Amino acid sequence: MRTHLCTCYSLLFNSLPLLTSPLSRITMARSNNNTSNPKVHKMQHLLHSDPSGGWEKCWEKGVTPWDIGQPTPILVHLNQTGGLPKGRALVPGCGSGHDVVAIACPERFVVGLDISENAIKQATKLFSSSKSAEYFAFLEADFFAWCPTQLFDLIFDYTFFCAIEPEMRPQWASRIQDLLKPDGELITLIFPISDHEGGPPYKVSVSDYEEVLHPVGIRAESIVENHLAIPPRRGREKLGRWKRSICKSLL
Ligand SMILES: C[S@@+](CC[C@H](N)C(=O)[O-])C[C@H]1O[C@@H](n2cnc3c(N)ncnc32)[C@H](O)[C@@H]1O
Ligand SMILES: *[C@@H]1O[C@H](CO)[C@@H](O)[C@H](O)[C@H]1NC(C)=O
Ligand SMILES: *[C@@H]1O[C@H](CO)[C@@H](O)[C@H](O)[C@H]1NC(C)=O
Ligand SMILES: *[C@@H]1O[C@H](CO)[C@@H](O)[C@H](O)[C@H]1NC(C)=O
Repeated sequence: MRTHLCTCYSLLFNSLPLLTSPLSRITMARSNNNTSNPKVHKMQHLLHSDPSGGWEKCWEKGVTPWDIGQPTPILVHLNQTGGLPKGRALVPGCGSGHDVVAIACPERFVVGLDISENAIKQATKLFSSSKSAEYFAFLEADFFAWCPTQLFDLIFDYTFFCAIEPEMRPQWASRIQDLLKPDGELITLIFPISDHEGGPPYKVSVSDYEEVLHPVGIRAESIVENHLAIPPRRGREKLGRWKRSICKSLL
C-alpha cells in the first residue's frame, strides 16, 4: 500500500516516509540527508551542480519528483467552497500548472510563473486546450526579478518556499509584499515540516515564514493542519493564510 502511494504520487520528499516504528524512525533519521527516493537525490544533484540552470535541467530530464500530477486537493476544496479570493491570482514556481488551472475561472484570472522554459512548455501543452484557457496564463520568469503591471488578490505558494535557497527567504517575503494588493491574501502550504538537513526541499517551520513575513507587515490569520494533504505528506503540512496587518499598511 505504501509502495503504491509512493509510486503514484511520485513524491517529493517522499523520502521521509510515514513513521511506523522506532526502527523506521532511526532509519529515517539516518537517511534524512540522502533520501530513499533516487529522483530526489538526482534532483538535488542537478540543482547543486548548476545553481542557475538547475531547475531547467530537472525539467529537461524529467526529474520532477515533487509533481503530483493533479491539483493540490486542499486548493481544489477551497476553490469549490468559495474560500478563495477572486480577482487576480499568482502561483509562483507553478511547475506543470495543475494548481493554476484548478482555480482559474471567469471571476479569477490566474498567472502561473516559472523560471523554467520547459516547465512552462509542459504546462502550456497540458492545458492550452482547457475550457478555462482564457482565465489563466503561464509565464516564464524569475519570481525574484519579475515586475508585473498589476498586483494580485491571491498568491498561492506550495513547494516554492521550500525549493528556493533558505537565504532567499527574506527576498521571497519582500516580493510577496510587492506583488500583493493591500487587501490581498497569501496562502501557503507550509511543507515539509521536518528536521532533515539539506534540500531542496529545505525543511520549513511556521516560524520560518513568520520570521520573513512579519518584517514586511504580513501576518497569519490562520494556520491549521492540512487534513487534505496527500498521504505521504500528511502530518508535515500546514495551511497558512496571511494578510497585511492594518497597522503596518498605514505606516
Ligand atoms: C519544487 S517545484 C514545485 C512546482 C509546483 N509548485 C508543484 O507543486 O508541483 C519548484 C518550481 O519552482 C520553479 N522555480 C525555481 N526558482 C524559481 C524562480 N526564481 N522563479 C520562478 N520559478 C522558480 C522551478 O522551476 C520548479 O518548477
Ligand atoms: C544515497 O542515495 C543514492 C540514490 O538513492 C544511493 O545511490 C546512495 O547509495 C545513497 N548513499 C548513501 C550513503 O546511503
Ligand atoms: C473553481 O471554482 C470555479 C468557480 O466556482 C469553478 O468554475 C471551477 O470549476 C472550480 N475548479 C475546480 C477544479 O473545481
Ligand atoms: C549530506 O551529506 C554529505 C556527506 O556526508 C555532505 O557533504 C552534504 O553537505 C550533506 N548535504 C546536506 C544538504 O546536508
